[in-house]
Amino acid sequence: MKLLFYDTKSYDRASFDEAGKRYPDIAIDYLKTDLAPRTASLAQGYDAVCAFVNSDVGTETVKALHEFGVKVILMRCAGFNNVDVEAAGRYGIPVLRVPGYSPEAVAEHAMALALGVNRRLHKAYVKVRENDFSLSGLMGFNFYQKTAGIIGTGKIGAAMAKICRGFGMRVLAYDLYENPSLKEFITYVSLEELLSESDLISLHCPLLENTYHLVNKDTIAKMKDGVILVNTSRGALVKTEDLIDGIRAHKFFGVGLDVYEEETPNVFEDRSEQILEHSITARLLSFPNVMITSHQGFFTREALAAIAETTFENAKAWEKGETTGNEA
Ligand code: NAI
Repeated sequence: MKLLFYDTKSYDRASFDEAGKRYPDIAIDYLKTDLAPRTASLAQGYDAVCAFVNSDVGTETVKALHEFGVKVILMRCAGFNNVDVEAAGRYGIPVLRVPGYSPEAVAEHAMALALGVNRRLHKAYVKVRENDFSLSGLMGFNFYQKTAGIIGTGKIGAAMAKICRGFGMRVLAYDLYENPSLKEFITYVSLEELLSESDLISLHCPLLENTYHLVNKDTIAKMKDGVILVNTSRGALVKTEDLIDGIRAHKFFGVGLDVYEEETPNVFEDRSEQILEHSITARLLSFPNVMITSHQGFFTREALAAIAETTFENAKAWEKGETTGNEA
């Protein structure tokens, strides 16, 4: 089987080369360029393409992949909101993804953002480097005995709920489908109740039509004053303009974002030389109680190894005509 790997970073290549030793029948060629309508033609002669969260796997790309003979799309990520799954279905191209490679990796990063922004670690780090050991502006609050609100209790939300319980927090959750294994220590409530009761709100639901801009003017108004909001899920769950208004109105004690609306389509770009004066992310960064990371929640050694392993397993299953449960 021939696989064309788009948007290759050195760490992707390292993890796929390592796992690939166990799959000698799968030959990979790596491309630096990302998958988009104009680069789909490069996949001519390949059975499969491997793409990622910022790849453009929309209608046009899927059509082109079909014309160039690609038979399967392997997403090396959980989310697939950048893939026109319906179009792929029409062309008989299965889309396989990696639904859960290391939920703990993302949940631990969500807690890192919550703690970081609570204890103002981003400010403390810079202050101490400047030889300023004063504590002004660094006061946080205990998570112990406070309330965490988890929106979406799938794999990552469940891991986050367990971490919060470990911190001695009361854990509330909101999900369309309740996870019975969590009921021992979390309480499912309505979204309204979660918003009004929680000191820390962490988003772990997927980006769907009914979750788009879930955090907006109205839902922010229902939150407790002084809440910490963390989003490691998808940027468009939060309406950024409304979030900025909320921050300006001192609604939030802190905001930790690993994902943000503006990141798509080029998530992992080095934008250090761009002028960001019109960017809403730059506006967010101008607030001292906002901490932003670059979609790195998944980025641990264990997660990368698991992503590679599952992608190869998906490819193998597709070749054998087996279903995996990893279909998008
Ligand atoms: P999952 O599919 O295991 O869980 C998602 C949960 O959200 C499910 O329990 C589902 O019932 C719930 N849900 C769906 N619609 C909802 C709604 N309207 N309101 C409340 N809950 C709703 O997914 P998993 O693996 O936990 O991932 C969650 C999200 O995390 C992904 O969709 C992805 O966007 C994001 N993610 C972020 C990463 C990062 O590096 N920052 C890495 C991996 C995933």
